[in-house]
Amino acid sequence: MNNTEKRRAGGLIIRQKEPNNLETPFDQLDSFLTPTELFYIRSHFPAPKLDPAAYQLRIDGAVRSPFSLSYQELREMHSETRVAVLECAGNSRVFLVPQVEGVQWELGAVGNAAWTGVPLAALLERAGIEDDACEIVLEGADRGTPKEKPKPPGTISYARGPPRDKAIQREVMIAYQMNGGDLPQDHGYPVRAIVPGHYGMASVKWLTRIHAVREPFQGYWQTSDYAFWDYPDGTPVRRALGEMKLKSEIARPVAYETVAPNQLYTVAGAAWAGESEVAEIAVSTDGGLTWGRAEFLDPAQRHTWRRWKFDWVTPKKAGRYTLMARAKDAGGGVQPDNHDQNYGSYVINHPLPIEVFVAAETCGKS
Ligand code: MTE
Repeated sequence: MNNTEKRRAGGLIIRQKEPNNLETPFDQLDSFLTPTELFYIRSHFPAPKLDPAAYQLRIDGAVRSPFSLSYQELREMHSETRVAVLECAGNSRVFLVPQVEGVQWELGAVGNAAWTGVPLAALLERAGIEDDACEIVLEGADRGTPKEKPKPPGTISYARGPPRDKAIQREVMIAYQMNGGDLPQDHGYPVRAIVPGHYGMASVKWLTRIHAVREPFQGYWQTSDYAFWDYPDGTPVRRALGEMKLKSEIARPVAYETVAPNQLYTVAGAAWAGESEVAEIAVSTDGGLTWGRAEFLDPAQRHTWRRWKFDWVTPKKAGRYTLMARAKDAGGGVQPDNHDQNYGSYVINHPLPIEVFVAAETCGKS
């Protein structure tokens, strides 16, 4: 069995057994769409079992005509299919030094899938969203007590409130299919939200309520968790995480892989951004001293990732080498050199160092 075949043998990596927190083996990246069975799972509470025959989606709050919709009615509405990257805001947390609390994701709390459903805007139009609604709170059916402090008293449901301006964009979907099949239970069956361009926490699974609000939502996953420190007037305030930041990741080689000396090695990876397009990838094989340009395998398309490759002639000299990839977006923005502490254990989008070993040259080969 060669190295590639060995890689393909693996499935999701367990980070936590219950609730399911399972990571994509990112080194297996070899298609534009992440296969459903290899798509990472990030759940705060055990997945609720919802009966599609009894399922109701409620749209209420700051709307003129609140209503409920059955699963069947949702599926009969005009649908759209869009490809979008989901990246968990805590992806790559394991690279932070010193170590921080939280699920120790490496590179695989990210995936690119095709989602089918109804634009959220169509439901908000039907309900008659009020002019003064500022956020749209999306609530899931899963409940529990969060692990991270400060813990709220009693159980709460998972909920997030994207800003109205984002929620009414055509790309924000109430989805019931992933890669052409019904959503698997762990990915939100029967219905979930997909908020392309925002970190994964916004794409609420097991969605049962859409609630328009007139005041900024102060829920746990909006202010306590999945939030960061901002300094608008020099005074730190807590703000909800939103748009994904520009990022590239190396899929191959994997960290601490041993590669042969003086040979062509195709370094492979993927890059994505929030609302912008990925325009360029630079790769360094000497710890950031020099950079070369990678070649894209996928076209630029907002909200999807672009796979890329870079041909590296491995050094003749045995030893430890550090690889890094750095993306530039269409607006000229580049990944920061370091992790911004104001994001705490989230938004890890600096070029991640992948250390590899170049083996000693074997002599006497005939
Ligand atoms: N929705 C609910 N109801 N409960 C959750 O725990 N996790 C969120 C989001 N939606 C979550 C949720 C987070 S943090 C992420 S990164 C994505 O779902 C992950 O989606 P996936 O498990 O389908 O990959």
